[in-house]
Amino acid sequence: MVRAETQGTVARIELARPEKKNAITTEMYVKMAEALAAADADRSVRAVLIHGAADCFTSGNDLADFLKRPPGTKSPSWRFFEVLPALSKPIVAAVGGPAVGIGTTLLLHCDFVYATPAARFQLPFVQLGIVPEFGSTYLLPLLAGYQRAAELLLLGRPFTAEKACEVGIVTEVVPEAELLQRALKTATQVAELPPESIRLTKRLMKSAHAEAVKQQIAEEGRIFVERLSSPEAKEAMNAFLEKRKPDFSRF
Ligand code: COA
Repeated sequence: MVRAETQGTVARIELARPEKKNAITTEMYVKMAEALAAADADRSVRAVLIHGAADCFTSGNDLADFLKRPPGTKSPSWRFFEVLPALSKPIVAAVGGPAVGIGTTLLLHCDFVYATPAARFQLPFVQLGIVPEFGSTYLLPLLAGYQRAAELLLLGRPFTAEKACEVGIVTEVVPEAELLQRALKTATQVAELPPESIRLTKRLMKSAHAEAVKQQIAEEGRIFVERLSSPEAKEAMNAFLEKRKPDFSRF
């Protein structure tokens, strides 16, 4: 589930489905999109904070939900893919434990990202027989440089908070006990600054790539949905749900 509440000037969005490592279902995407849109429309909200538990951010898309209800531009979850990149207000993320798939790619649309030393990032899209999403094939090479992005996106191995900081995904690594406090402090600090100036500065920083990112999100989404019904993806996802190693040797 997703908990959304506004505390003063900060809108908090919490992923809270611990029994499935905060895997994100269609309903959760819809709830997050609604909370983000409401935060952007509410004049009293000056910053958004996205977090999970201190030891688990999210295991990414819910793989079972995926197979049943493939995402895509016409799915109810799509609004999340439109609202987050276009949000006019600053977004702070607090990441501890696993941040898999969209758990990493959504961070590319945040303005401040704090992570604990135990945070583990991963972009396992190729391993799942699909392709990376949410603009990551555009934004990660831009942020990290092509070779470093290729290592993370083509091999899809987990990487540490230190590495995420080095490639530019993470702003700062902070002790687990201070994670939420640190993220909230930045959200509160940014909320005290002139809001129009903040919004304009964010827009100016993003404007050069905004249209290209939007197009890439749509193109990745189109291929992603196509790939979901591929034999490679079916083998990968069934293997995960059946707790066995996938076998790609026949492809
Ligand atoms: N979708 C659906 N269910 C998921 C899930 C996901 N993305 N990630 C975890 N779960 C479920 C597991 O199936 C398990 O359910 P069960 O208790 O009913 O068997 C439960 O959550 C706990 O997961 P488990 O794998 O036992 O936890 P762990 O601490 O050993 O490992 C992860 C945590 C995140 C490293 C591991 O769960 C993982 O790799 N998940 C898949 C990540 C992924 O491929 N995401 C999709 C990206 S597009």
